[in-house]
Amino acid sequence: MDFVKKMISKSRMKRFAPYVFIELDKKKKEFQKRGKKIISLAIGDPDIPTPSEIAKIASREVRKSVNHSYPSGRGTVKLRRAIARWHHRRFGVNLDEEKEILVLIGSKEGIAHLPFTLLNRGDTAIIPDPSYPAYKTGVILSDGKIHKIPLLEKNGFLPDIKSIGGKVLGKTSIFFINYPNNPTGAFASRKFLREIVEAAKKHHFLIAQDAAYSELYFSKPAPSILEINGARDVAVEFHSLSKTFCMTGWRLAWLIGNRRVIQSLAALKENIDSGQFNAIQETAVYALNHCERFARSIRKIYKGRRDFFSEQLQKYGWKIFASQGTFFLWARPPIKINSLKCALKLLKEAGVLAAPGRGFGKNGEGYIRFSLTAPMPLLRQAAKSISRIKW
Ligand SMILES: Cc1ncc(COP(=O)(O)O)c(C=O)c1O
Repeated sequence: MDFVKKMISKSRMKRFAPYVFIELDKKKKEFQKRGKKIISLAIGDPDIPTPSEIAKIASREVRKSVNHSYPSGRGTVKLRRAIARWHHRRFGVNLDEEKEILVLIGSKEGIAHLPFTLLNRGDTAIIPDPSYPAYKTGVILSDGKIHKIPLLEKNGFLPDIKSIGGKVLGKTSIFFINYPNNPTGAFASRKFLREIVEAAKKHHFLIAQDAAYSELYFSKPAPSILEINGARDVAVEFHSLSKTFCMTGWRLAWLIGNRRVIQSLAALKENIDSGQFNAIQETAVYALNHCERFARSIRKIYKGRRDFFSEQLQKYGWKIFASQGTFFLWARPPIKINSLKCALKLLKEAGVLAAPGRGFGKNGEGYIRFSLTAPMPLLRQAAKSISRIKW
């Protein structure tokens, strides 16, 4: 008897089934086996290498034996100071480097662990639909309840706080938001951030704002929730090196905001991990101290790609949500078609792999997410192949 299989099938793991992407992945592998070239615009992982200046600092730091021991779990003082200075320069936000900053091994790690510090069995977390899938991880593992709220185009993909109602908000412990947003590319206004902070104060929930894409803006810089008066009483915000500096593989991020949450997550992590490699923390100090220079040139590349690809798709009848940043295009195909069917058609007829909106939640149905993480020659080729599809 395969008792291990039985145990796993009865565990919480069954709530993690990535069903929407399975069929697409199977088809992709089939095509590749037959030698067909696929242009992948499905995953939010930059194709642009980490700036070589940053990589050089890392190779120097790796050789220093002082960096070889167990790291400082909360993050080195030097890094937390650099983070505090960056937030001050970028958002005008002052942070206490001892109490209001916690270094993470990627924001996904922090997002998954955060609910353990606040939720007991049956407690509610609000998760937007569509959204980045990791928000549900910690809620599932802590036996919390997920309350989904729709992000609709008519509301600029912002939650309609008023329509959620006091009854739900009153029993909510954590409210996840993510701006600039994956998958839609939507940005939050300060007005919206003020509204949700007010609601959090009134109904006593914690806002967990994911700002992983904060530096990928094309016109106005995205705000931080901590710019809002009183936000640190009710909010925390995730930041990451991953997208800003094309450093997804380096695994370095941080959480700022409410000091009790920071303290509690730090205590939890002390029992789980031992922090990020000191050489990477040292490298992060360098990256943050020179952030604007690196971020500016990375933004320019994505903006060029976004302008080109959205113009092309619109020419062929696609409707593109007018985003002010991120490297995603949230697009409606020329005809009404199920998003998985559409993604399969793109793959079969154009050799382009894109993410079906349904994979991010029920309200993602009808949309396709293109991740512009491929160089211009490939984007040109992809646009040309998409133009030939018969709808
Ligand atoms: C919205 C969002 N948040 C967080 C992450 C995770 O970033 P990190 O590399 O810091 O774990 C991603 C990664 O794709 C993302 O899209």
